[in-house]
Formats: sequence, C-alpha cells, structure tokens
Amino acid sequence: MNTRLVAARVLSRVLQDGQSLTAALDNALLTIESGKDRAFIQALCYGVCRQFHRLDFILSQLLDKPLKDADVKSLALVGLYQLNFMRVKPHAAVSETVLATRKKPWAKSLINAVLRTYLREQEGLEHKADKFQVAALSHPDWLIKQVEQDWPEQALTILQENNRQPPMVLRVNLAKTSREHYLQLLAEKDIAAEIVGFCPSAIMLDKPVPVDLLPDFADGLVSVQDTAAQLAAGLLDVQPGHRVLDVCAAPGGKTAHILENQSQLKELVAVDIDESRMQRVSENLQRLKLQAKLLVGDAADPSGWWDGKPFDRILLDAPCSALGVIRRHPDIKLLRRAEDIGQLQALQKFILQAVWPLLAPGGLLLYATCSILKQENEQQVQAFLAEHSDAIELPINADWGVAGACGRQIVTGESAMDGFYYARLKKGSPRTKL
Ligand SMILES: C[S@@+](CC[C@H](N)C(=O)[O-])C[C@H]1O[C@@H](n2cnc3c(N)ncnc32)[C@H](O)[C@@H]1O
Repeated sequence: MNTRLVAARVLSRVLQDGQSLTAALDNALLTIESGKDRAFIQALCYGVCRQFHRLDFILSQLLDKPLKDADVKSLALVGLYQLNFMRVKPHAAVSETVLATRKKPWAKSLINAVLRTYLREQEGLEHKADKFQVAALSHPDWLIKQVEQDWPEQALTILQENNRQPPMVLRVNLAKTSREHYLQLLAEKDIAAEIVGFCPSAIMLDKPVPVDLLPDFADGLVSVQDTAAQLAAGLLDVQPGHRVLDVCAAPGGKTAHILENQSQLKELVAVDIDESRMQRVSENLQRLKLQAKLLVGDAADPSGWWDGKPFDRILLDAPCSALGVIRRHPDIKLLRRAEDIGQLQALQKFILQAVWPLLAPGGLLLYATCSILKQENEQQVQAFLAEHSDAIELPINADWGVAGACGRQIVTGESAMDGFYYARLKKGSPRTKL
C-alpha cells in the first residue's frame, strides 16, 4: 500500500466526484492499520485541499496542457505539497510519489518530470504564485471577492485564517465535572491546555490529540466542539420546565450541550432531515447518557413532525455555506460554488419562517450559522424582522464577536474561534404597523 496513492485517490473523489473530504477520507482509512500511515494520508489530504489553489496554479505552470486524469492530477498535487509544505526529504517525496503511478505507467515520467522541474525552478514558481491572488491566498476568486465585499478590513486575516490548522477545543460536561478538574486530568496525561475565559465550558488544547487519549472521553466528561459553537447553549437561555426545539440538529453537538446545561427540561425535540446524521446524534447522546426526542424530518415542513405543542426555545442552527469552518473542512473551498449562497439563503428563509409559528409567545429563537456571509446572517435576520411584526431582536452583549445591523458575528480566527453568527429573536405581540 502506497500512502501517496491512497491520498491521491481520496483527493480525486473530492475533485472529480464532489464527495466531501471527510466522507472520502473516512472510507479510505478503513483499510489502513498503521496510525502513522493514517496520519500521513490525512495530513496530505487536508494539506492539499488547504493549498489547492496555490498547488493547482503551480502545476499549471509545469504542464503544457491541463491533466485530465483526476487520479494523476491529484498525485501531482500530493507530490508538490510534500515538496513545498512538508518536512519529507525531497528525493523520498519524488521517488515515492512516482512509485504511486505503477497502475498507470504512462504517468510515471510525467510525475517525475513535474516534480523534478518544480525542485529546479521552485523559487521562481513560488514567486509567481505569490503574485497571483487566487494562488497566493489559495481561495477561489469568487470567494475572495465575497469576503472582501462583506469584510473589507478583515478579509486578508479571514482568508489567511481559513488556511491555518484550527485548534482542538473541548467542551467540558459541567453537569459531571469542572473545567479546573478536567484541566488537572489533562495535565496528568501531559496534555497541555488552557481555559477559554469568555466561554464557561471551553478548554483549548495546545495540540490536537486523538479523542481516545482524552481522560474519560468514553464516559462523557468532554466532547470536541469549537468555542464558537459552545456559545449557542448559553445564548438560548434554557430554564427548568422548558420545551426546547433543536432544528437542524445533527450531529448533535449543540443538542448535547443544551441538555448538559439544563437537566430539568420538560422536553428537548431534535429534528434533522438526514437520517444517517441523526444516527450520530443518537450515538453522541448515548455516550453522554443524555436523552432527547429525535425526529427525522424537514424543518421547512413542520406539519410532517410537529405535535402542535409550542416550544419555549428554538435553536435553528441553519444549513449554511459553512464558510466560517473552512479551516476544519478545507474541501469547502473546492466544493462550494458562488451560486450555492443564494440557494442556501432561500432555504434558511424558508426554515426560519416555517419554525417561527412553533415558538410560544414570549419564547426565544436563536438563529445560528457557521458562515461569515452577511447574506446568510444579518441580512437574513433583518429581512425576517421586517416581515414579522411579532419578532423582536434581543441584542447580544458579549465580549466576543462584533455587533452587526442585527445579531453578532464572530469572524474566523477571532480568539482562535470558527466563524459563527448568532441572532436572538423573541416572540412578542405583533407590532402595530405604521
Ligand atoms: C450546521 S449543521 C447542524 C449542526 C448541529 N446543530 C450541531 O451543533 O451539531 C446543519 C444541519 O441541517 C440539516 N438540514 C439541512 N436541511 C434541513 C432541513 N430542510 N430540515 C432539517 N434539517 C436540515 C443538515 O442535515 C445538517 O445536519
């Protein structure tokens, strides 16, 4: 088994078939036994996706015409990535990558030539890449423009943050232990970490570790969740006796956090359209020994699953472009298209309108996305407020994020967080129209 070949095949599933990196990688890793090999394949795949637009530009400079074969193209990218971004010895990177062509012998001399020419001309090629924005920032052009339009001052930082490896953040189950105690357990295992001051449940690790090395992970003492996502449960302000609806709930990170925060709920109903993802909610709750009513259904059509009883709290973690979590899912830069944004915005609007009637008078709906685009966030909520006279925005006063026209935005990388958006909408009596 050649690890470069495995990585190249995973990448061509993403590039050619549009599969998500997580799905393609999970599938490929099933047959890889060595932990070292798995880590290497993973590093290659994530690295190539992060640097795709740069590597692709450099590859184009090394070829007379574009490479049509997705496996061979991916292998060339894997080779270039090792030479520029990894500490693999250049001769080993070239020879092992060339060896990976053995099932396509025609590609052997091509990959060899591409990688050796790169090594000879590296400085000039990298300099050229630095002058071409798409390559220099390693993002598609439409996305650079979109970020620049929405965040003119922060755009460069956001784009650079998108290409960095994110920290591993833990959510401590405060129903079972304290952060201080868990920090001590980590220290006993020589896992360096610190608490995140503004988020009561968060601990950030200095370096990521496999979850099975985390003390008492299997017993539900902690979960892995970015700090930005951990802010949701607090903003929802759940109280004893509340009926809570978590729409678009899978894989259940926020569902579990709400239940950890408040054990006296009347009921928590979690809904998601995707049955297999709903299975993951069930597994997560099982590990944490928590209970909720899990429903597979379309949030845009509650008539299919709602029992008619109003909810005191609704969390709508809307399906979105996920542009705030590119650093965790760098394949988003390859798979997302500019035209998706309008479609997602329409779906979010549809779901928001559909679940609003399920909220009891005086109740609170928390709208959330892991996007940094205003179209999906403050503009979405502004439009909703304009059309719903019984919706009142409750401002979020916090020492994180920035207040927008409405709601609060965390831009990617702020306090090491994912990009996230939150808005709190209270149901009042209909405002009199002037
Ligand atoms: C951002 S993820 C939710 C993450 C989740 N809240 C958590 O914290 O783990 C968005 C979810 O929306 C679901 N979804 C997309 N369209 C939906 C729809 N029409 N109805 C219900 N769920 C939907 C997706 O399956 C996906 O699981």
